[in-house]
Amino acid sequence: MTRLSGATPSGRAQLGNYLGAIRQWAREGTDDDLYFVSDMHAMTTAYNPQRLRALSREMLAVLLGSGIKPERVFVQSDIASQLTALTWVLECTCTFGEVARMIQFKEKSAGAKTVRLGLLTYPVLMAADILLPGADEVPVGEDQAQHVELARALARRFNSTYGEAFVVPKAVTPKVAARIRDLAAPERKMAKSARDEAGVVFVLDAPDMIRRKFRRAVTDGFERVEYRPDEQPGVANMLEILSACTGQPPQDVADGIDSYRVLKETTADAVIEELRAVRNRTEDLLADPAELDRIRATGAERAAERGHHRLAAVTRLAGIG
Ligand code: TYM
Repeated sequence: MTRLSGATPSGRAQLGNYLGAIRQWAREGTDDDLYFVSDMHAMTTAYNPQRLRALSREMLAVLLGSGIKPERVFVQSDIASQLTALTWVLECTCTFGEVARMIQFKEKSAGAKTVRLGLLTYPVLMAADILLPGADEVPVGEDQAQHVELARALARRFNSTYGEAFVVPKAVTPKVAARIRDLAAPERKMAKSARDEAGVVFVLDAPDMIRRKFRRAVTDGFERVEYRPDEQPGVANMLEILSACTGQPPQDVADGIDSYRVLKETTADAVIEELRAVRNRTEDLLADPAELDRIRATGAERAAERGHHRLAAVTRLAGIG
């Protein structure tokens, strides 16, 4: 069984990425598992190349600092030739309607003056990421589940049209923290590329910064610490974060907390504690560029090796190559 997942360096890793996804990647698994920095996905909207390179490096360090074994990581663009070749085959397996109805595409393209074609086709590249090495399970937060469904549909369609080439993958989302919300605007999800960072906790934020962000978290006028996500999204979000850090259900962590002030302090403490070792390990890695380069180079070789056979089989079945 192979698990695979990726994180896009379109910004700095935030708490939702960590609790909803990255933490799970570090926890379980086998040495067949693959976790990668999806740097090619960060090109779908305007970006700065130097900053992308720096953010890719930081994201790789965060994956390792979160405890993912060095043998399991790589950077997507290091196997760009295989992935883009497979993407073309999959684009010719996918319909326009299928990508046009992706929620993330609709959200990100709404109101934009120009829309990069890559923003539309990005889920097909993501399907290539998943299908190339033959992943069975894809651990992701809720917002990526629809993209994994598309990968699943494309795998089935290719297999039945041209011949068996792909493992049909499935998304795995965590029970809690599958959709962490922005602390300052709990109606939206926490996102690394949010325009306003007041409500976004970054994995590498210093403890006092984390505390400040929780102190300013938006709550409501009920003055009740109860887990009611629809009525009290801000409070429920903090209870979910606390639940993810303590391992107890969100309903239970509310017991004994009698004010919003205590809820904020308790949650901030738990997050600071949860991220402490991750931050320390990540900073050590960032201070050792040679070691990061070495890990990246071996990861690239391993990933290329993994994809080689399936790509050959796919092109043969598709009548090219
Ligand atoms: P990305 O970089 O947006 O997010 C990385 C992971 O974090 C999860 N996540 C969240 N979980 C809970 N609450 C949140 N607020 C939150 N925000 C993000 C995401 O669901 C994701 O699991 N396209 C992907 C990267 C990717 C990928 C892949 C994933 C590229 N190829 C192949 C799986 C398989 C992305 O941009 O994730």
